[in-house]
Amino acid sequence: MISPTSEGNVKNLETSRVNSDKFSLKINFSKNKKVDSKKLHTYDIKKYVNPDNFDFPPDMQELIPKNTPPYYDRGENYVERIVRALGYFKQCACIGPSGTGKTHIVYLVAELCQLPLWEINCGLQTSTYDLFGRYIGLGKENWIDGIITSWCRHGGILYLDEANMMKQDVATKLNPILDTRGHMVLNEKDNELITRHKDAYMLISMNPFSSEFTGTKPLNAAFRRRMSVWLNFDYMSVGTHIDDKEVNLLLERTGVSRDTATSIVHVAAKLRQEYKNGDLPYGPSVGDLANWARIIADGASPIDAGNETLVAMTSDDYEIQEEVRKIIKSVDWDETQTSDDPKVFIIVAVEKALLELGKPDLNKVKERLMKDYKRTLADCYEEPEFLNRILKDIYGKAHVTIIDSIKRNLGNASSSEPVQKFLAEITR
Ligand SMILES: Nc1ncnc2c1ncn2[C@@H]1O[C@H](COP(=O)(O)OP(=O)(O)O)[C@@H](O)[C@H]1O
Ligand SMILES: [Mg+2]
Repeated sequence: MISPTSEGNVKNLETSRVNSDKFSLKINFSKNKKVDSKKLHTYDIKKYVNPDNFDFPPDMQELIPKNTPPYYDRGENYVERIVRALGYFKQCACIGPSGTGKTHIVYLVAELCQLPLWEINCGLQTSTYDLFGRYIGLGKENWIDGIITSWCRHGGILYLDEANMMKQDVATKLNPILDTRGHMVLNEKDNELITRHKDAYMLISMNPFSSEFTGTKPLNAAFRRRMSVWLNFDYMSVGTHIDDKEVNLLLERTGVSRDTATSIVHVAAKLRQEYKNGDLPYGPSVGDLANWARIIADGASPIDAGNETLVAMTSDDYEIQEEVRKIIKSVDWDETQTSDDPKVFIIVAVEKALLELGKPDLNKVKERLMKDYKRTLADCYEEPEFLNRILKDIYGKAHVTIIDSIKRNLGNASSSEPVQKFLAEITR
């Protein structure tokens, strides 16, 4: 808990969010914003929510997430769409099975918008006291705000995970806050009326599939009506759809070969399909796949590594575990490991180099390739000269730094012959 004398010391804040009413009393504005400008430019969000407009006191700045890894999507622009919903309506709902990155994206949005994050998992039995507040000690002198009350008073993003598990009394209390110019009434504290802070945003997430297993009820109707925007999340690869981005993500994060990464994603796509059909209790996330891949990269066989990770994670039930094993074995793991396709390698390296400058830069290069030469980025492997011309045209002398970063992204692959040829062409 933060004592009145601990001003400036915010180290304990994370564990004391619930009981930290007092920090709100001192408002020391901090002018040094630490938004990674590279990250900010990758997303076009400033027109909806502009971090420059916020000035949260230092203690609250501690609640702003840092170093959130990038979020990959298939061009759905989830980040922009969530921030747009926040900009227009102050709240937004994210729906999707477990492991589709809902929590991840909430952290990313909070970081990009530089908003403190107040997180509640409605599936856990958090007490109403912790959520709204209580008096401590004897009598009615020392009131401590709960999480929701703190958010309502001081602003930031309130993130309600597993919102369909929310208890009725909590939902009822939240309803009036969710109307655009909302407020809350603290019955526990002599009906104090708290107006919703101008920078108080709300994100909720739910898993539509959890209901089959845990018997959750649908989201309270009044609450549902107050959410203007609903975004659906899904796995990158599922059923027969295998997403190259997910394969590349495993390559980048874990160091397995492309064949292995592809097989891993094939298994995941099948497991996720079974989960969606209601035949398995869990569908693996990209994070789960990365753990599996790391153990394989360390030398374990895919089956052994799968037993230690995916199988055990899916269920305790022997029959269900057997089903998962069957799916893992259904993929051909013995295929001789061919070297990585240089084309895919190069395109990924180019895309990554441009993304380091920001998504608008990547889009600009793609547009120019199409407009001037009727070429896509993928054509640049066979015909690097077009990319070369466009980079020179847009960036002038600075284009060499982009080529350096392409080389860096290619890593060890730079020494192979086709890659050397490509690099020679593009450096002309
Ligand atoms: N689209 C994505 N891009 C990057 N990482 C992702 C993505 N989707 C899921 N992950 C990773 O998978 C794991 C599970 O994601 P999480 O946000 O907890 O899912 P959810 O909240 O939907 O259950 C995390 O490690 C997360 O970083
Ligand atoms: Mg989650």
